[in-house]
Amino acid sequence: MTILITGASGRTSRYVLKAILIVAEASPPDLRLMVHSQHGIDKLKAEFPDLPESSFVIADYMEASTLPPVMKNVDIVFHNGPAFSSLEAAMGIALIDAARDAGVKHFVFCSVLFPLLTKLLNHKIKLEVEEYLVESGLNYTILQPSSYMQNINVKEVVKTGILPCAYNPTTLQGFLDLQDLGGIAALVLLDPTPHNRARYELVGENCSLEEVAGSITRAKGGQIVKIQVVPRDEVIQSAAVPVNPTSYYAREAMERMLYYYDRRGIPGNNNTVRWLLGREPNTWETLLQRDLRLPVTMTVTEEKEIVLNADGTNSRGGHGNGYSSTPALSCVICEAFAMKSSFSL
Ligand SMILES: NC(=O)c1ccc[n+]([C@@H]2O[C@H](COP(=O)([O-])OP(=O)(O)OC[C@H]3O[C@@H](n4cnc5c(N)ncnc54)[C@H](OP(=O)(O)O)[C@@H]3O)[C@@H](O)[C@H]2O)c1
Repeated sequence: MTILITGASGRTSRYVLKAILIVAEASPPDLRLMVHSQHGIDKLKAEFPDLPESSFVIADYMEASTLPPVMKNVDIVFHNGPAFSSLEAAMGIALIDAARDAGVKHFVFCSVLFPLLTKLLNHKIKLEVEEYLVESGLNYTILQPSSYMQNINVKEVVKTGILPCAYNPTTLQGFLDLQDLGGIAALVLLDPTPHNRARYELVGENCSLEEVAGSITRAKGGQIVKIQVVPRDEVIQSAAVPVNPTSYYAREAMERMLYYYDRRGIPGNNNTVRWLLGREPNTWETLLQRDLRLPVTMTVTEEKEIVLNADGTNSRGGHGNGYSSTPALSCVICEAFAMKSSFSL
């Protein structure tokens, strides 16, 4: 089985790649990692030195001739587009067409929570890709993550005692740990059939930035974390991922998103994450325990004890959540991530 990961050197896709390598450690699938340039290959090699040279392929969504070689012999696609690009829909559609031409068996699109929020350019544009995918005739799964917890650099907040805030700190907002997103994506990519035609809303925890500051304050042992307002025009420069500051579209999309976060926020429901992973979604508290290396209450056992059997069970028996093939695999994901807790992205 060959799995293609697009934007492979990007932030989200690296979490997905990491999760696949952990979960399928015993018999990893063939991986094709689409990057935009040699720089992407260098970045991935530095982080994953065991990946074979044959894994990498340089291509551009907007250069049609580069896509057939990317798709050759690919069974399953994971696609995550770049942030705040006016061409995001065209990129997704070009990739879906290339997947259809190549006879891909399953296409996983990483979208966003509530693409139906049409006032938000970066949500609305994903709705176009979702619609095209649903109508494509391909087998598909759509993942709809809320705002990532990793947008906040908690180590920097701990160092400075300041939580930069570009919108109303009392607004309720949905957050998802990228580690949970990676785990769910791996779950779907390694066994896509039970997830065919699903659109999964993915939220870990709803809370305000004031509450996040409170959680970090507690994790720091009571040293108070202050909220500092970041002027809107400085937000693009300090974004967690590169955003083109000369793009009118990117600036407009960012402005609208911050206005929306300011007034409404985008909270959601975390039932789907709980159901898919067969455990509680990671919260700010669990993320801080892990990323700040605080004592973890979870019992960590020997790596060699975990075996993912071909029938989807593991050597520990897994735990049930009423879903036929998910529980055992999800156990492996959360335990394996816990054991490899030293990784950082
Ligand atoms: N941040 C959040 O809280 C959040 C929540 C939900 C959904 N999302 C969505 O997640 C996506 C961003 O993910 P991310 O943070 O992982 O972004 P990222 O780190 O910027 O990764 C995007 C990747 O796409 C590649 N790329 C850009 N243009 C390309 C092209 N024309 N052809 C081929 N590759 C290209 C980039 O390569 P180069 O850098 O080499 O160009 C980069 O590796 C956005 O669609 C955003 O809406 C974000």
